[in-house]
Amino acid sequence: MSDAVNLLENYDDATLDQAFTGVMAEATADVATMDAEAFRLHWLGRKQGRLKTISEAWLKSAPAEARKPLGIRFNQLKQQIEAALEAPVAATAQVRGIDITLPGAVRAPGVEHPLLKTMHEIVQVFNHLGFGTNTGPQVETDFYNFEALNFPPNHPARDTQDTLIIADQQSKPARERLLMRTHTSPVQIRTMVEQAPPIRIVIPGKVHRNDAADATHSPIFHQVEGLCVDTNITFSDLKGTLDHAMKALFGSAVKTRFFPSFFPFTEPSADVQISCIFCGGKGCRKCKHSGWIELLGCGMVDPAVFAAVNEQRALAGETSPAYDPAKISGFAFGMGVERIAMIQHGVSDIGHFYSGDMRFLEQFA
Ligand code: DAH
Repeated sequence: MSDAVNLLENYDDATLDQAFTGVMAEATADVATMDAEAFRLHWLGRKQGRLKTISEAWLKSAPAEARKPLGIRFNQLKQQIEAALEAPVAATAQVRGIDITLPGAVRAPGVEHPLLKTMHEIVQVFNHLGFGTNTGPQVETDFYNFEALNFPPNHPARDTQDTLIIADQQSKPARERLLMRTHTSPVQIRTMVEQAPPIRIVIPGKVHRNDAADATHSPIFHQVEGLCVDTNITFSDLKGTLDHAMKALFGSAVKTRFFPSFFPFTEPSADVQISCIFCGGKGCRKCKHSGWIELLGCGMVDPAVFAAVNEQRALAGETSPAYDPAKISGFAFGMGVERIAMIQHGVSDIGHFYSGDMRFLEQFA
């Protein structure tokens, strides 16, 4: 930034071109170092802006025939300076030419968000066991989110999943009404309607509930669902698979235990607990002194679910019911990605994952 104005020695085109290029180079240097508002004031200020000062000085001492070429060049210069203010980097390249010896713009490579990292880790553990991956829509019908999963209309189990429904759906039949899926389980149904057994898949994705945000809840969160259907699938297969997965995620010293629970779409159902990874099972604040941390839900696929799938496949024109509960069986499970990531990294507030605070995120880079 300089305030001196060099007067012109003569007014031929070559001298003018050189003089104007010099001014633009000065402006370009400034645009790279000044903030936009300071630059605007310094160069384009109406009364004492540099452009104004230079044009007054040059025009005052110019012979009458030089006024027109000067005027044209000042107009162009003004436009160039305004453009430089809009796009400083392009202007720099334009005026200086591209200097290949300058260091390039360094753009730090992005890394996975810690939640996606955990989600991919979970998916990979199951992929290595031979499970494929499937996804489904976040805007779901009542049928896939609830009815086919054996939550009939008005069933009290629906109250455990406070649902965000899409407005103005009353004119549709109940099962076609749209909502934000409250879990990834509807993709179990979508997969079975499309594919005959055997099935081994995991389903990662976003889910939505009308929950108030607090340290452990967020109205939008992530789950990984699992489904295995084949002949002779037993509860031992479920236990062995999940025990392996928990050891792969939390370390081989981790133990699992299965507690009776209830989900409408599995029978029997269980909650899986892992031995507390913070205290090794002795009891601490994190495990509420129980030595165990509850981590996911699971169970054997309820025959009512297979019946809903067969019915849907029949509507789609399938002639034989592929999901005959007398011949096949299956297990399913569903886990919260946030909860697992919080335990893995010792994060105590779920909100950190969504804050976009680089000081938090960079710890996982
Ligand atoms: N969908 C359940 C929920 O969001 C989790 C779950 C439990 C999924 C048991 C399953 C299962 O597949 O078998 O609370």
